[in-house]
Amino acid sequence: MADDKSHPPDRTSGVTRRGLIKGIATAVTAASAGATALLVETRHELEAANPSGPMPVSIAVNGVARTGSFEPRTTLAEALRDSWGLTGTKVGCDRGACGACTVLLDGLAVNSCLMLVHDADGRKVTTVEGLGSPEAMAPIQKAFVEADALQCGFCTPGMVVSCAGLLAKNPSPSAYDVKEAVAGNLCRCGTYTGVFAACEAAAQGKPEVTRG
Ligand code: FES
Ligand code: FES
Repeated sequence: MADDKSHPPDRTSGVTRRGLIKGIATAVTAASAGATALLVETRHELEAANPSGPMPVSIAVNGVARTGSFEPRTTLAEALRDSWGLTGTKVGCDRGACGACTVLLDGLAVNSCLMLVHDADGRKVTTVEGLGSPEAMAPIQKAFVEADALQCGFCTPGMVVSCAGLLAKNPSPSAYDVKEAVAGNLCRCGTYTGVFAACEAAAQGKPEVTRG
């Protein structure tokens, strides 16, 4: 039967429309499978280059060698608190906004919630426990007690560590220096006046507790 000119035949150069669609579908499926294989291969390569499993860490914390095996996502704050029991370091915001987690890293005040524990590998960390103990407080700790520079106390370890870091580098800080040193430490109880007084007293060698 002759072709009906108003309904063109379902053929183009010997390829049927159904065959063409099947061919495209097959090609797309093959390409998709190829892309998936490539992604899997790439992921394996990435995982091999950047393993997600626990990796060893060794840090001198308060003068004591601390070791452990941590997943790459572990923060220094988590390692200090959860693995090594140094709960003097507080976690308030867990995002670098409050300073409650402040520790000294090679003498520099840092937010331990923002630092991965592996980035501290081989370095020296000082927490509030490393400054002194209740029986043998550091001058800055005594000064905080003397100045009554705390209320709920949650921010206090971070405040004390920031002040200790300042005094270690600058034994005679100005009032501005003190305010700048604790600028990243937030206190919802509003103890700033006491904190400034404590830091200045410690710098002047007057941290002794005289009450009681
Ligand atoms: S807990 Fe680290 S800055 Fe707030
Ligand atoms: S003493 Fe309560 S947050 Fe500072």
